[in-house]
Amino acid sequence: MKIFAYGIREDEQPALKKWQAAHPDVEVAFTEYTLTADSAHLAEGSNGVVTLQTSPYTREALEVLHQLGIKYISIRNVGFDNFEFKDLNDLDFTLTNVPVYSPNAIAEHAVILMGRLLRRVPEFDQKMDNGDFTWSPTIGKEYREQTIGVVGTGHIGRVVIQILQGFGAKVVAYDVYHNPDIEKQGLYVDSLEELYKQSDIITLHVPLFDSNKYMINDEAIAQMKDGVYIINCARGELIDTDALIKGLDSGKIGGAGLDVLDDENSVFGKVWSSVDNIPNEKIRNLAKRLNVIITPHSAFYTETAIHNMITTSFDSNLALIEGKKPQNIVDTHK
Ligand code: NAD
Ligand code: COI
Repeated sequence: MKIFAYGIREDEQPALKKWQAAHPDVEVAFTEYTLTADSAHLAEGSNGVVTLQTSPYTREALEVLHQLGIKYISIRNVGFDNFEFKDLNDLDFTLTNVPVYSPNAIAEHAVILMGRLLRRVPEFDQKMDNGDFTWSPTIGKEYREQTIGVVGTGHIGRVVIQILQGFGAKVVAYDVYHNPDIEKQGLYVDSLEELYKQSDIITLHVPLFDSNKYMINDEAIAQMKDGVYIINCARGELIDTDALIKGLDSGKIGGAGLDVLDDENSVFGKVWSSVDNIPNEKIRNLAKRLNVIITPHSAFYTETAIHNMITTSFDSNLALIEGKKPQNIVDTHK
């Protein structure tokens, strides 16, 4: 039995070595390259592949895997919006993801972004760079005075709510599916409009679909409170960047904490040395603002998460190869 893994980074190798040691009968080979039409042939002779990337999985790459007789793909992450389900179905692939590698990693990151905006940390950092140890005008706000709108109460959104309640914030939530525990607490509002109307901070924790692409657009922003903070640790394409920039320019939006960005693959994962060198004009515009905090899709990036991403993805791929049906098979037929 052989599993081939794409996009393996150095920080994943200790967990991978552990998994290999626990499965001496499985041959594991890997590359640092992501899965593309050019790198797909590297999996020749394997029964399944494990992969992780934020760039699209192209039909050409999947066709090469198909020609190699590979049927099982296990991603090491949650979101599978970079696959076309039609391609997976046409080519008869079974896909697994890692739905719960560490919701806390992302939830904590979202709450930290809020805290950094509330306490104006980037402005204080700039003052420190100038040896300025004064208070004014960088006065902050407290979580307990905020109404925080959580869009999506799945694995991550629910941990966000728990943490925020610990800080004493008022939480309102919106989801197409009502989680019984959140329902019991009476946190759901009936519509996004209502959540936008009530919230001082809005944080996004929904998957990306065609139907919610650019859900945060001019019309949505117009329904929000003046000075609202927007946090996005889900997917960049949930926010129309032009509308965000317009809202920041007018002051309608008070600040944003963005772990993900539309077209982030043009910028993330590379060193630009200075914000002036960022080649994407809209991202450069955002990165220059003191009330916008950008992190490079790193909300997930904790030791616990990396360990679980490796272990669960390889366990799932092996289970598929052995003809079992792991619980985390993605339903690509809906
Ligand atoms: P989840 O599936 O557990 O929860 C998603 C929730 O969104 C569900 O409760 C679902 O009912 C709800 N939902 C779906 N469509 C909706 C809509 N149109 N309106 C309102 N609610 C809707 O997923 P999760 O583990 O909480 O992850 C959420 C997203 O976070 C992932 O899909 C992924 O895109 C993103 N993510 C980002 C990182 C990161 O590092 N930044 C890491 C992991 C996941
Ligand atoms: C996810 O797990 O969906 C993420 O966004 C993390 C990233 C490494 C792709």
